[in-house]
Amino acid sequence: MTQEKIYVAGHRGMVGSAIVRRLLALGHPQNQIVIRTHAELDLTNQGAVQAFFAAEKPTQVYLAAAKVGGIHANSMYPADFIYANLMIQANVIEAAFQNGVQKLLFLGSSCIYPRMAQQPMSEDALLTGGLEPTNEPYAIAKIAGIKMCESYNRQYGASHGVDYRSVMPTNLYGPGDNYHPENSHVIPALIRRFHEAKISNAPSVAIWGTGTPRREFLYVDDMAAASVHIMQLPKATYDQHTTPMQSHINVGSGADVTIAEVAQTIAQTIGYSGKVVFDTTKADGTPRKWMSSSRINALGWQAKVDLIQGLAFAYQDFVSKQ
Ligand SMILES: NC(=O)c1ccc[n+]([C@@H]2O[C@H](COP(=O)([O-])OP(=O)(O)OC[C@H]3O[C@@H](n4cnc5c(N)ncnc54)[C@H](OP(=O)(O)O)[C@@H]3O)[C@@H](O)[C@H]2O)c1
Repeated sequence: MTQEKIYVAGHRGMVGSAIVRRLLALGHPQNQIVIRTHAELDLTNQGAVQAFFAAEKPTQVYLAAAKVGGIHANSMYPADFIYANLMIQANVIEAAFQNGVQKLLFLGSSCIYPRMAQQPMSEDALLTGGLEPTNEPYAIAKIAGIKMCESYNRQYGASHGVDYRSVMPTNLYGPGDNYHPENSHVIPALIRRFHEAKISNAPSVAIWGTGTPRREFLYVDDMAAASVHIMQLPKATYDQHTTPMQSHINVGSGADVTIAEVAQTIAQTIGYSGKVVFDTTKADGTPRKWMSSSRINALGWQAKVDLIQGLAFAYQDFVSKQ
């Protein structure tokens, strides 16, 4: 591993903390990893971000800081979501450029793809149709982040060696997840519910919908490994698999599972012996959502942690925080 000075933005978040773990595991010296909490550095504050970069002079940036939330938060606070995310990425990318950073990795999300995108969603589905309305402002900010990276590459790649890349993960889970009872994603929400059902000896746990929709999940340490892998690829290799105006890379596990299978696996992981029932009066949502990971697979990366293993690790993390 090179002696880069690496800034991990959002190091307290689920993804940022996994990236720090990955860098340390690869032997990157801790004193060459720069971190700031949100309280220490508000990334929506342009002046503060510029002063931070000028003082610290990192040589690489992982941009894993973002204002993230579920459907409810996104529909209640759309202005906050579009403003904060546009500001964070505009400030960090511009300050990185102004301070000579040549390598930056921007973290996006699968919500950048059109609501009706063909499955599995491949990178070229971007900007081919309307977005899911519930998180459109967030998705627009993420699309702008990809386009910022590409624009800096196109304008300053040859003259300044700028090489800014983007990765788009599928649904992530694992240590550092948000287990909030009302405002969390499928896996952490189910972990909490089955755990509580086990403790209270509840005879059954009801899952919304038929359980048949298929979703893809990736363990967050696999995502961190993918992020470092993409950051470290030689430029010629990255360029071979991308184009200047379609440079983002999907990161998925390659396997999708039904909600019923996820629920059963979580019940087994936790040791819940009651029944799993499906409340078919509730809506199912999109029947299938999964990403094409053929581009990143061709670039030499594959997920390593399967769902059974990943859920066991996630549950250990959940229990350790109770
Ligand atoms: N989790 C997933 O399933 C998933 C899936 C696909 C993509 N992603 C992407 O991965 C990235 C990281 O997500 P995550 O799940 O790790 O989110 P997270 O756990 O909420 O972490 C985000 C981090 O960013 C920090 N942050 C937010 N606003 C900030 C600001 N104004 N200044 C400084 N720091 C700020 C947060 O600090 P505070 O908490 O103190 O505000 C937090 O530490 C996002 O771009 C997201 O779109 C996540």
